[in-house]
Amino acid sequence: MPPALSAEQIRDANTRYHDVAAGHYDSKWGIDFGEAGRAQVIAKVRKALGAEPGHWPSSLEIGSGTGYFTLNLLAAGVIDEATCSDISPGMLSTLSANATRLGLDVATEAADAERLPFADQSFDLVLGHAVLHHIPDLPRAFTEFERVLRPGGTLLFAGEPSRYGDRLANVPKRVAGAIAPLWRRAMGASAAVPDPGERPVAELERVVDVHAFSPSELSRAAGSAGLVDVRVSGEELVANWFGWTNRTLEATADPEEIPWAWRQFAYRGYLALQELDRRLLERRLPPAVFYNLMIAARKPG
Ligand SMILES: C[S@@+](CC[C@H](N)C(=O)[O-])C[C@H]1O[C@@H](n2cnc3c(N)ncnc32)[C@H](O)[C@@H]1O
Repeated sequence: MPPALSAEQIRDANTRYHDVAAGHYDSKWGIDFGEAGRAQVIAKVRKALGAEPGHWPSSLEIGSGTGYFTLNLLAAGVIDEATCSDISPGMLSTLSANATRLGLDVATEAADAERLPFADQSFDLVLGHAVLHHIPDLPRAFTEFERVLRPGGTLLFAGEPSRYGDRLANVPKRVAGAIAPLWRRAMGASAAVPDPGERPVAELERVVDVHAFSPSELSRAAGSAGLVDVRVSGEELVANWFGWTNRTLEATADPEEIPWAWRQFAYRGYLALQELDRRLLERRLPPAVFYNLMIAARKPG
């Protein structure tokens, strides 16, 4: 069990961990800023809203990382003016480099989600992906999201671990850990050599995630902040088991020695299983069983 940390220590761990992660974040997580990335992000927005994405004149992303959501939404023409905020300046500098490479214009601001340096009613859309589970005081953050939204504006967060899904994901991680030596032999790859310099970062990784949610916790957080039309949905079940198995296996091998054919299999297999989840399971099973939760809501007015 990681030691109990104060909210300030959790924020500090998040800043330091993500500053270091920023350099290799896109390749580690297969983040794409082309057609595939745009299609993924638009599909998530559609799923969260339960409707076609609207068009938003201005947006603020919380914990934007290297720009996965905002840059893809900008490129798709779904938002006009984008601001990206993150507690990690390192992530924001990778985001700015990505935006320059893609020829996109975006404002960045290093900020903690619980204390947003923006005026009331500044944005039509407040969004985020895989960030709420890092925030120590969630009610306070939702109060901030509501404050900076314009009346009638939309709140949308995706990629948040569900409590049940998170527990289920331990099964493929454990199985992959057990079969890793056999898998490496089959791949002709040698074991990864731990870099002693990475140890402090690996230790931070154990403390940066502070929540896994039930759907009702997420909707309560939005409702208590005064947001309405709250909708929580779930995504990814078998795709996630597949993804966690592969990531756990790959983490045990020298990355240079993992064959290209395996990487293709892992990437294409993940996309195919995402499609299976979408077509078959997401319509039939309750949100709580999926690995990821998404929430959409509206500010009255
Ligand atoms: C898992 S990453 C997700 C990044 C990006 N949204 C994506 O989907 O690729 C979580 C991000 O949240 C940021 N973060 C963590 N705690 C935060 C906080 N209290 N306020 C704002 N951002 C935070 C981290 O620095 C990191 O960039």
